[in-house]
Amino acid sequence: MTASVRVCFFRWKWIVYPLSSIFEEFAIKIIKTVKEIQTRSEMLRKEGRVISFVPTMGFLHEGHLALLREGRRLGDDLILSIFVNPTQFGPGEDYESYPRDFEKDFELARKEGVDVVFTPTKDELYGDRFQTHVALESLTKHLCGLSRPSHFKGVATVVAKLFNIVKPHIAVFGQKDFQQLAIIRQMVSDLDFDIEIKGVQTVREKDGLAMSSRNAGLAPEQRKTALCLYSSLVKSRERIQEGEKNASALIQEMKVYIISRFETEIDYISICDPDTLDDVDKIERPVLIALAVKVGKTRLIDNMIISP
Ligand code: PAJ
Repeated sequence: MTASVRVCFFRWKWIVYPLSSIFEEFAIKIIKTVKEIQTRSEMLRKEGRVISFVPTMGFLHEGHLALLREGRRLGDDLILSIFVNPTQFGPGEDYESYPRDFEKDFELARKEGVDVVFTPTKDELYGDRFQTHVALESLTKHLCGLSRPSHFKGVATVVAKLFNIVKPHIAVFGQKDFQQLAIIRQMVSDLDFDIEIKGVQTVREKDGLAMSSRNAGLAPEQRKTALCLYSSLVKSRERIQEGEKNASALIQEMKVYIISRFETEIDYISICDPDTLDDVDKIERPVLIALAVKVGKTRLIDNMIISP
């Protein structure tokens, strides 16, 4: 009797031990301090492991998850940051009301095989004597940069800091924020960050609405209205493919289409060069059509690259 119990116990340990070490291996780690993640990344780099990084402000959706899958595919260790960055919100913008749900984010991150979630506090990243910023000269003077003048300074600064903190080999961003991606690529090139930047296509709802954490703030009627951003892009694509070359005529058609919807307010509609973001008059090469529209209080953006 005693002997058989001992054997069982031995076997049980024999099974449980390796399982527990496997769990430990796959356990997702939450790190809140700069020092801890820097030390960890240094160690991983010394071991020759490839670190991929997805920076976010949380309230994860399928768009973020597509970035995580790309990061998982490209790297050995996948780090996700969740930080609602106060410096990229202007006065009167939605910093306080920006949606947050760490528990759900953590669960989604775990399912996607994230190794580390970095969630610093505002104080950990900025303290109270912070005074250095990254500001770009021309890419920020278009599109969202016009109505949100300090936004990209906040984005470029926090992303530069996160790059120095996380020390990734690869960082993944979404094309939904086309201008942000262009700015990050430019910053990486100008400041010689040794990081490969990967862009991932916009993930959309079934009807075409670009996924966004801010969609959660739309009432059911506004959710229907919000589709006008995507449908106006699709209409313009058809018009361009039928031979329309006049950018201002197309912008005018998009404006009429969007303002006829209830509760919409257009911030901008632009047809521009995808590299410089300078306006284009005649559509003869691939162009970026980008727009920002407020539906009720929620500001939404979308874009499409269209070839004539
Ligand atoms: P956030 O809006 O959380 O977005 C994080 C990343 O997810 C960005 O690279 C964004 O382009 C991407 N993303 C969002 N919606 C997407 C969609 N529908 N399809 C594909 N990718 C999508 O962008 C930020 O946070 C912040 O500005 C940040 C870079 C984290 C700096 O604070």
